[in-house]
Amino acid sequence: MGQVAVLPGWMLSLLLRFRPRIKGSGPRGDGAHPNQKDNTMEHTLPALPYAMDALAPHISKETFEYHYGKHHQAYVTNLNNLIKGTEFENLGLEDIVKKSLGGVFNNAAQVWNHTFFWSSMKAGGGGEPGGALGDAINRKWGSFAAFKEAFTKSAVGNFGSGWTWLVKKPDGSVDIVNTSNAATPLTTADRALLTIDVWEHAYYIDYRNARPKFVETFLNHLANWEFAAKNFG
Ligand SMILES: [Fe+2]
Repeated sequence: MGQVAVLPGWMLSLLLRFRPRIKGSGPRGDGAHPNQKDNTMEHTLPALPYAMDALAPHISKETFEYHYGKHHQAYVTNLNNLIKGTEFENLGLEDIVKKSLGGVFNNAAQVWNHTFFWSSMKAGGGGEPGGALGDAINRKWGSFAAFKEAFTKSAVGNFGSGWTWLVKKPDGSVDIVNTSNAATPLTTADRALLTIDVWEHAYYIDYRNARPKFVETFLNHLANWEFAAKNFG
């Protein structure tokens, strides 16, 4: 089996989309682009893993038009503008997230977080995971119902703008982590398994201020446990 074959789909998508585009008179590396005049890395908005109306009525097409088409796109555009002429210009997205601070970090992490969030949902999602991930959840919280209660409490109580994550800790156990603004488990020892965006822009069109209803809907109808299980490994 080749190395690429073991990568999760979302990660493979990122790698393909954020590969360097290089032109020069010298040897061309993988991903070389014949029209690029320098070694800059241009980040692009990754394609959604489904159509913009695929999660309706739980998340409307209008929400995707704003949340994906405008917010996510803006983070990509801002990132490309901010890294021009800096040490981050030729780094891949994950390296930028891990090495940057301030505006570069905020935009790079938000690009990564949103791409991860889209894959954390699917049409006909919800339910509960089986296998090793289901076992780990039961070991941590005793039951899937208790996990849902804890995840909901954490996401609803995540003050202001942020993200609530299910993560795998270095010891193999699972946990729920809240982050604020653009903060992401990518800069920690934890591995992200699943996330919900609890910035108001994620739910205001469809749920107004009712974050608890949005979190409930995410768990009951949208959560992509196959994605989480692949990340759990
Ligand atoms: Fe968002």
